[in-house]
Amino acid sequence: MTATELIRKKRDGNSLSAEEFHFLIDSYVKGAIPDYQMSSFLMATFFRGMSSVETITFTDLMLHSGDVVDLSGIPGIKVDKHSTGGVGDKISLLLAPIVAACGVPVPMISGRGLGHTGGTLDKLESIPGFNTSLSIDEYKKVIAEIGVVMIGQTKEIAPADKKMYALRDVTATVECIPLIAGSIMSKKLAEGIDALVLDVKTGRGAFMPTYERSVELAQTLVNIGNSFGKETIGFITDMNQPLGYAIGNWNEVVESVEGLRGRDLPDIMELTYVLSGAMVMLGGKAGSMQEAIEACKATVADGSAYAKLVDLVRRQGGNPEYLDHPERYPVSRYVVPVMSEASGVVTSIDSLELGLSSILLGAGRTTVDDVIDPKAGILLAKKAGDQVAAGDVLATISTDKEEAIGPVADRVRRAYTVGDKAPEAGPIVISQVDRHGVRKFSLTN
Ligand code: URA
Repeated sequence: MTATELIRKKRDGNSLSAEEFHFLIDSYVKGAIPDYQMSSFLMATFFRGMSSVETITFTDLMLHSGDVVDLSGIPGIKVDKHSTGGVGDKISLLLAPIVAACGVPVPMISGRGLGHTGGTLDKLESIPGFNTSLSIDEYKKVIAEIGVVMIGQTKEIAPADKKMYALRDVTATVECIPLIAGSIMSKKLAEGIDALVLDVKTGRGAFMPTYERSVELAQTLVNIGNSFGKETIGFITDMNQPLGYAIGNWNEVVESVEGLRGRDLPDIMELTYVLSGAMVMLGGKAGSMQEAIEACKATVADGSAYAKLVDLVRRQGGNPEYLDHPERYPVSRYVVPVMSEASGVVTSIDSLELGLSSILLGAGRTTVDDVIDPKAGILLAKKAGDQVAAGDVLATISTDKEEAIGPVADRVRRAYTVGDKAPEAGPIVISQVDRHGVRKFSLTN
């Protein structure tokens, strides 16, 4: 068997056997298949897809490309959350300490920025010293000691996803249900969880822009989770405008800290509480969603969630001083306001355009070897529904790249639509997908 044969097979719309997938994944992890052949296979898959049997086989082999961590020695029901990727999506940074502060252990393996979306690992690594690549022993020690741990895929855990993820990021092969399923579920099934909550984004800034495709993705992920014996619940959530005001790695850490310290961030906190509430329910620490959400809110109100974040940062080598004093963090060489040319009300903000803009500022990668600038990003001054006058600041961009300023400022300005009529505010959490099917989200579901 050769990689070329398998690329051709997928290119021509045929299914691959378990043996063929095993050859492809195993050889790629060992370095025997180069990136250019894997890129070609990924693009063929992007166009041709996979059957549901192939998707399960692919996920299983991605999972077993490394070790599956056994956390059975750690008391409690271990629960994690994963997002399919959004713009300004820093929810994991708030939710993991909240859920851990409620007494539910959270072992989390996250990813880096992917396509136009940011990644939890890049955000965590913007905290000076924070180490996201722990050995399995160290990972187990941290979760046992403080009830939460946040790392990336390693050579030991989900190594196939580690390599393929970085490649998909820069080869326009992200928006593909079987590849997303294999990537997310291989990490999540490897980390030692008992149950999983999925935040499946829908809308302009999501990898699945239509509601129907988002439901299809959610069902695929939920079915895989349940078929591997992990209770899995998915929520379809809105990603038409960025979450919160901050885009970019350090910007998003700062906003997460503000949320944990009680700043009123309606969309962020609403989503955080629904997802963390579901985790606390699955973790057996509450009898209803309302009760679970109240418990989560209490950890923010009494400071225990923020204290847990500080513990986590310290335990994984980061310097928590910057969380308390963000003003001491280095600032970009250029910090430039983007003004509105029109007056009226902001009717929409194109989150895809803002995600792509933040990459150009240095917050994401355009090649595998790019180094992230943690300071780079966008701070929104206006969100959908806000009044704006010509000359008002819509957003501020931060970058060290002088050549990016002009084109990105234009792009950010064009990402805003200003009109006469305020948009109708839809719900952040739209529906719930679980083993019983798909239904409109309500707290009493
Ligand atoms: N998150 C992942 O981990 N992988 C994807 O493919 C998309 C989102």
